[in-house]
Amino acid sequence: MRSPVIVIGWLAFKFARDARGRASNLYEAKLYRGVDESRRALLCPVVWASRRGALLIIRAAEPLTEMMTEEEYWEAFETWDYMPGEDSCPFEPKACDWGWFEGRKVALDYSSRLSISRAWPTPCSQRRCCKRLPTSTAMPD
Ligand SMILES: Nc1ncnc2c1ncn2[C@@H]1O[C@H](COP(=O)(O)OP(=O)(O)O)[C@@H](O)[C@H]1O
Ligand SMILES: [Mg+2]
Repeated sequence: MRSPVIVIGWLAFKFARDARGRASNLYEAKLYRGVDESRRALLCPVVWASRRGALLIIRAAEPLTEMMTEEEYWEAFETWDYMPGEDSCPFEPKACDWGWFEGRKVALDYSSRLSISRAWPTPCSQRRCCKRLPTSTAMPD
């Protein structure tokens, strides 16, 4: 969680409230720096991130008041050009997750798909899905 995001002039400050917020801040900073020009045009520009993610400073945008249409979201999705094996497309169509910046629509929250397992890697043995079945329910060879 990072709400409320504080907007002062042309900057927006995302203060992490918890570990998930810090992970989101670091994820957005890394993603923004790592993508190519066409993908970057879909993301609200990152200005600075603190080393451990407590604070992310990004450019201020004007949040959308209405959810994107299916066509608009599809267009953004196509521009992102998701490749199999990558993290999934990092944004959702919710109005509050998008804003106007320098005449284009940009994602304001692009860590919404940051999976909890990546933010807080849980040892395999503690995950329900990884618990071993009792021997009696094991399938015969
Ligand atoms: N760059 C920005 N400019 C203006 N408002 C923003 C900006 N970034 C985020 N916001 C507003 O703050 C809200 C919370 O930010 P978000 O990144 O979604 O944080 P959270 O991690 O709590 O979901 C957004 O839904 C958006 O309305
Ligand atoms: Mg959000």
